[in-house]
Amino acid sequence: MVETVLNNALVNNDFKDVMFGRRSVRRFDATMTIPASELQAMIKEATSAPSACNLQSWHFVVAASAAGKAKAKSVLMPFNYPQIDSCSAMIFVLGDTKSHEVYRDVWNKACDEGKITPEKRDEIFKTFLPMYESASKEFLIEDATIDSSMAAMQLLLIARAHGYEANPIAGYAADKVAATFDLDPDRFVPVVAIAIGKAAETPIASNRYAAESLTDFI
Ligand SMILES: Cc1cc2nc3c(=O)[nH]c(=O)nc-3n(C[C@H](O)[C@H](O)[C@H](O)COP(=O)(O)O)c2cc1C
Repeated sequence: MVETVLNNALVNNDFKDVMFGRRSVRRFDATMTIPASELQAMIKEATSAPSACNLQSWHFVVAASAAGKAKAKSVLMPFNYPQIDSCSAMIFVLGDTKSHEVYRDVWNKACDEGKITPEKRDEIFKTFLPMYESASKEFLIEDATIDSSMAAMQLLLIARAHGYEANPIAGYAADKVAATFDLDPDRFVPVVAIAIGKAAETPIASNRYAAESLTDFI
């Protein structure tokens, strides 16, 4: 069980409301700030997400200060300026294509803590590490993108559980994101940014296609 601040500072633990009441909010109360500790807690909670082979190929850049928001704005497409101009924070979720380089640490820790046997740990290393060490760049990007999307979706919902609203954003200059945040563009791939804050608008109640029309039972 991941420790959460939700246990202590629960604002909304109504799953139905958190999930089905979620809408993209694009205008926020610009006077509101969220403490760095709470932003960090939300990221921690979001990283309870599953990931391929537990590689956890995600990375987060939080733009909450004026300087950070200015950097974030410099990569955004203009139609996303209202979000950065009013949100409490914009969290960029990036995929880490080199997460396998620290992969041993996570399983060694689980082993040291007695959660898995040394045999199980070695089996995991033998099965998965060669796969990633010899993987193509495309494979690593795809894997990191899927992992990061899992965490990003959790972050959208966790923001609501903390009493905030959010908007996922991919309308940015993807080729500029990593370098603008002083990250290695060869290693980190932008996946999505999430604007978070207190809502200052009633969001559009967007429709969905009929699930039956999108589903094949085989
Ligand atoms: C990958 C992704 C990228 C998105 N990029 C943007 C964006 O750049 N700007 C924006 O206003 N909304 C963006 N959205 C939000 C979608 O427009 C929104 O999720 C969709 O219209 C459904 O509405 P809902 O979120 O209110 O359910 C994005 C959503 C996703 C999942």
